[in-house]
Amino acid sequence: MNDQKTTKHTVTVTNNATGQALELPVYTGTHGTPVVDTRSMHSKMGMFTYDPGFKSTASCSSEITYIDGDAGVLLYRGYPIEELAEKSCYLEVCYLLLYGELPTATQFDEFRQMITMHTMVNEGLKDFMRGFRHDAHPMSILVGVVGALGSFFHDSLDIHDPRHQEISAHRLIAKMPTIAAASFRYSRGEPPVYPRNKYCYAENFLNMMFSYPTYKYEVDPDHSRVLDKLLILHADHEQNASTSTVRLAGSSLANPFAAISAGIGALWGPAHGGANEAVIKMLEQIGHPREIARYVERAKDKDDPFRLMGFGHRVYKNYDPRAKLIRIEAHALLAKHGRLGPLFETALELERIALEDEYFLERKLYPNVDFYSGLIYRSIGIPTSMFTVLFAMARTIGWIAQWKEMINDPERVIGRPRQLYVGPAQRSFHPRLERGHIPGETGCAGRKHRCSHGHEWPGDKNGQRKAKGEGCDDC
Ligand code: ACO
Repeated sequence: MNDQKTTKHTVTVTNNATGQALELPVYTGTHGTPVVDTRSMHSKMGMFTYDPGFKSTASCSSEITYIDGDAGVLLYRGYPIEELAEKSCYLEVCYLLLYGELPTATQFDEFRQMITMHTMVNEGLKDFMRGFRHDAHPMSILVGVVGALGSFFHDSLDIHDPRHQEISAHRLIAKMPTIAAASFRYSRGEPPVYPRNKYCYAENFLNMMFSYPTYKYEVDPDHSRVLDKLLILHADHEQNASTSTVRLAGSSLANPFAAISAGIGALWGPAHGGANEAVIKMLEQIGHPREIARYVERAKDKDDPFRLMGFGHRVYKNYDPRAKLIRIEAHALLAKHGRLGPLFETALELERIALEDEYFLERKLYPNVDFYSGLIYRSIGIPTSMFTVLFAMARTIGWIAQWKEMINDPERVIGRPRQLYVGPAQRSFHPRLERGHIPGETGCAGRKHRCSHGHEWPGDKNGQRKAKGEGCDDC
């Protein structure tokens, strides 16, 4: 990785209790907020920095994605998301994120060929899937199966070998749609559909989702086009919760399949990628536009756990640029198919009301990427339980590109945050018999109870428990 960070300024931290001052370097990247290098604080000042949720902490330097949350800007390798969504395709964006540059025609052909070659999964994975309950959520299948993939490729898991890194990246990008579609088919008790080389990435996924041996399925070009665009919009988003999880898991030098499986787990939660599923459930719960005001009031009430799903973002304090593009797509697609429908009407009205409300304006809470994406997925026939799976499929390239960058970063060390300990002060252990346990019982690992002098406690002559505070028979 190029070392693009430059040091022009410093920040001095003064310990007001002792007067000790520590000068810390400030780095400036290509764009964005400068960072203070606090790594020497512990060794020089005997203090850690405290930042739960990493609200002010840069965990790494990265060349991949840039977000300006105040301006609503998102760049992949310097290219604005709007241009990529309009003029590129998902596989080209994968190449860009992985290798840093847009591919030439030859490079793209080779890359597409490589990804197409790797779309099949080992037949053994079918047996693995059969171990899941028939009604398992497809995300739980995805977490398990992606983690298990590593066991099929143990000959190419030398994470320091550039060729092994590359082949793992290709395998993950290629196999993710196959596994995602198979997880859905399994949860419906239906046979998996094999990938077909004649299709592009999005078409192939739709075919594996919806075709049956019993009838001919034609991929709707509108559906594959909009899906490809959604995949681009979800491809990477710098150091979000799931990507940071991938980097943290990978920093222990775990294989990339294990690290990405950890990332899928982190994505699943409704505060992150699970929000697309939660938005639809929320819109269904609201039911009718006349109920919106009541739910908006609930979202503002701190004693009520209800939040407007698909609203707010740690980084964007402006309209999420991805949400802007998805909103336009949702409008176009749903209008074309004449299925604007009550959920979309409710979503538009909810957005209108929230964006006029002082609470949301003050906190700069705007619709995020997940607010409208579920409506599009739904209109192309994707069931709600698959929404987060689609997010994971799209984000796989971001995770693997960030993993590769982390592994090759000369500054990489195992990710290991520190803490402020606020638990009990050091104290002595009280033996079990002093806490009401019965004499003669063996404790964990077959160990005998001991009195506070460390002697084995046989109990009294009748094997009865002795009174509290009494010693053992030998004492
Ligand atoms: N509804 C109501 N109030 C909200 C919402 C919301 N969706 N989001 C934030 N707030 C409020 C908070 O209560 C807080 O208010 P306060 O200052 O009076 O205490 C303030 O706005 C700041 O919110 P935080 O929770 O501190 O912001 P944070 O950056 O930690 O959380 C998050 C961001 C998790 C996305 C949050 O906005 C949220 O839960 N949104 C709903 C879930 C969602 O849509 N997640 C998807 C995010 S996009 C993605 O991951 C792909």
